[in-house]
Amino acid sequence: MKLELAKSAGFCYGVRRAVRMAEQAAEQGRACVMLGPIIHNNSVIEYLASLGVGLIQRPEEAEPGTAVIIRSHGEGRAAYEALAERGCPLIDATCPNVSRIHQIVSQAEEAGRKVVIIGSPTHPEVAAIAGWCARPLVFEGVQALSDWLEGEPERRNLPVTMVSQTTSTQIIWDKCVEKAKKECTNLKIFDTICNATYKRQSEAQALAARSDAVVVIGGRESSNTKRLAELCEALCPKVVWIERAAELEPSTLCRKASIGITAGASTPEWIIKEVYDKMSDENIEIEESFAEMLEKSI
Ligand code: F3S
Repeated sequence: MKLELAKSAGFCYGVRRAVRMAEQAAEQGRACVMLGPIIHNNSVIEYLASLGVGLIQRPEEAEPGTAVIIRSHGEGRAAYEALAERGCPLIDATCPNVSRIHQIVSQAEEAGRKVVIIGSPTHPEVAAIAGWCARPLVFEGVQALSDWLEGEPERRNLPVTMVSQTTSTQIIWDKCVEKAKKECTNLKIFDTICNATYKRQSEAQALAARSDAVVVIGGRESSNTKRLAELCEALCPKVVWIERAAELEPSTLCRKASIGITAGASTPEWIIKEVYDKMSDENIEIEESFAEMLEKSI
């Protein structure tokens, strides 16, 4: 059995930076909490909790004076205002790629343009982007965008600024761009899919196409991990999505000659290593049991 690990598997620049900022705050002995999980990975949240970094879900839960870490997905304007009112210093770990989108949409709205966000409406990054506009529109894909554009004829003449969730797939974005270009008379588009995401997805697709099975490692809440699993499923007959090595059932990968491993942007290296090591160990077992089976059958 051949194991191949995608080069881009694991932490992206924005996630690495956010986790490092939280670690540094803890090392300095600052009383600090994260507003929402800093990244979508339970093991990392548990690790930060062990360093003394607490977790709150809403700005109102922050004790005045406690430093609040803004997660890599960012927050809307209201959260910043609420924290300032409570006198909480900020450790802003918003990924710079996401901050750039906040800037684009708030400037667009100030200029009287309609902001259209392509992404998952319930994802925290999208909610945060929407939180920098008064009346944004969020569409998951081209069907929802088409339904809105075709709903009333005057919508085609609105000044529209369109951005994407950083972890959208290129195919979803390209379809939306094609439709918007065809329908809108006053359109500005910003391809805000992050390069790290694009690279990770392309590598995962190439790996899936040449492997008999792919193991995708990442949190269940992680949108970019979900996208990786979907892309791999389109190209590979066997895709297994796990959060930790303990979930890996070796029997599901039995007799696969080549297995690819990839991981979402919020999956730490220690979990990738744990999975890789387990698979390397299982590899020996699988080959031995396969040899045993062969012996019996001769
Ligand atoms: Fe930032 Fe891209 Fe990672 S937007 S958080 S570098 S996936």
